[in-house]
Amino acid sequence: MNKLQRERKHDETVLFINQLRYGVWLLGVTAWLFAIAERMIAVSDGAYFSSKEIFQTLIICLLLMTWLYLQPETNQAPVSLRSSHIISQEYILPYPYLCQIYHLLNLKHLETIHNFSLNNLKISSVTHVQATSQGGIIKFQTSLDSPINALRMWRSKNVEVDLILHNPYTVELSIPVYNQKRMVVLFNVLPLTQNEHYFFIDIYGDLQWWIKPLMKVLLHFASCLTLFEDLPYLRALSERNIDNLFYSHKSSSHESMYLYNRYIELCNT
Ligand SMILES: [Fe+2]
Repeated sequence: MNKLQRERKHDETVLFINQLRYGVWLLGVTAWLFAIAERMIAVSDGAYFSSKEIFQTLIICLLLMTWLYLQPETNQAPVSLRSSHIISQEYILPYPYLCQIYHLLNLKHLETIHNFSLNNLKISSVTHVQATSQGGIIKFQTSLDSPINALRMWRSKNVEVDLILHNPYTVELSIPVYNQKRMVVLFNVLPLTQNEHYFFIDIYGDLQWWIKPLMKVLLHFASCLTLFEDLPYLRALSERNIDNLFYSHKSSSHESMYLYNRYIELCNT
């Protein structure tokens, strides 16, 4: 078993344990709610409400409150990131995980596949590339052509965006927003079977408390829309020979495919 397979096995085990803990917690919530409902029915059937019944109901409510407080932490991000967490989404997609990786590392698809949701965003140039031990970084300049572009609500017309391959399963998109802050989108991919994968999207950003609820709704909507746009592209990729694409592909020399080439380099070492 090589290093990648060991890491994948470890991730699958951690995910299974987290889901098991969450399942047990949900079962507990259902049991406490059932106990409260049972008490209420018993009280409504009785002629009067004794102090013993009041005490029992209060104890059950207290235990339910304690149980709710013990909800397992499903967000594994560091504490510093958790405070700026805005939304999470997770999907099971019926495509090999390498299709998702290829899609995430292909800069040009932002201009074509997401032409509608990103309001005609243009990638003008790649400004920096850098290899890291498990991945790489690419910085590129983007511009929004139209003055009435919806994205101008939270970002300038021309900004330098970072795309970071942290490891073979995690990709980060970091976008500067107003007031020297950044919006960070973390994509995590976890193979489920040969033709299915989990896809996790987490968005982070330092927002004022009053704008956070509105941004949550907008970002959930934007995230669903971009995924919806990506589905035909992922399906088309899945119909190609993925092994050829990643393991015997002649790398494109175009610098916008730098991270893709870096990924192939890591796969083949
Ligand atoms: Fe996409």
